[in-house]
Parts: sequence; structure tokens; C-alpha cells
Amino acid sequence: MADSPGGVYTKKVMNRFSNPKFAGEIKNADGVGQVGNMKCGDVMRVYIKVEKNRIKDIKFKTFGCVAAIASSDAMCEMAKGKTIAEAMKITDKQIAEFVGGLPCIKHHCSVLGSEALRKAIENYKKKAK
Ligand code: FES
Repeated sequence: MADSPGGVYTKKVMNRFSNPKFAGEIKNADGVGQVGNMKCGDVMRVYIKVEKNRIKDIKFKTFGCVAAIASSDAMCEMAKGKTIAEAMKITDKQIAEFVGGLPCIKHHCSVLGSEALRKAIENYKKKAK
């Protein structure tokens, strides 16, 4: 797992937490995924808009910690523009790396992002049938 230097939040994490680009919700989303973290009770919801098999737009609503909010925002940036198949492959490890690492006790927070994205894609696939 990508540990942050010194076990503290990186600048990238703090910037995303204070200024998330993808926070919000999409009305008439093509897929919505929600996950809760059993360890802490935090909840993340992800909304996607899909066009020609690509994630055209993505937003999140996270009721959670600094790491969860920063990870959600990073995950959205990573997923936007990707095909459904590519987005399905985004891992919590990649998300943690994208924000320059997370304190090791916060690794579980980045799992929320990858799981919520997968659920939103599954929801989209179900609706598209
Ligand atoms: Fe709950 Fe981070 S402590 S997601």
C-alpha cells in the first residue's frame, strides 16, 4: 500500500479535501453506487453519467473523514473519461498513490472510492439492460 511520508496527510490530500473538484450530485445519473465503511460508519455515494461506454461525468457525496473525501475526489478524476472496463480496474492502491500516499491507518478509507465506483458501474449496467 502507498504509505504517506511520515504517516501524515500529504499536501495533495489536504488540497483535495479543502477543494474537491467533483463533490456534488448528478441529477438523472446513469448509475449510482453507495457503500458504507464497516470500520467507521462513513458513507460514500458516487454518481456517473455514461456516454459511448465512457464515464462522461462523475460526482461524489461522502460523509466521511479527510482521507475518504480526498480519495473520493481523486477516484473521480481518475475515472472521468475512462471506459467502463478501464474504470472497473481502478484500485484503492492506485487511489492512495494518486494522492501521494495515505497514513497507514487510513488505507481503508480509499477502499470506499473504488467500491462505490464499482457499484455505480454495476448499477449502470443493470439499468442499461
Ligand atoms: Fe471512515 Fe476514513 S475513517 S472512511
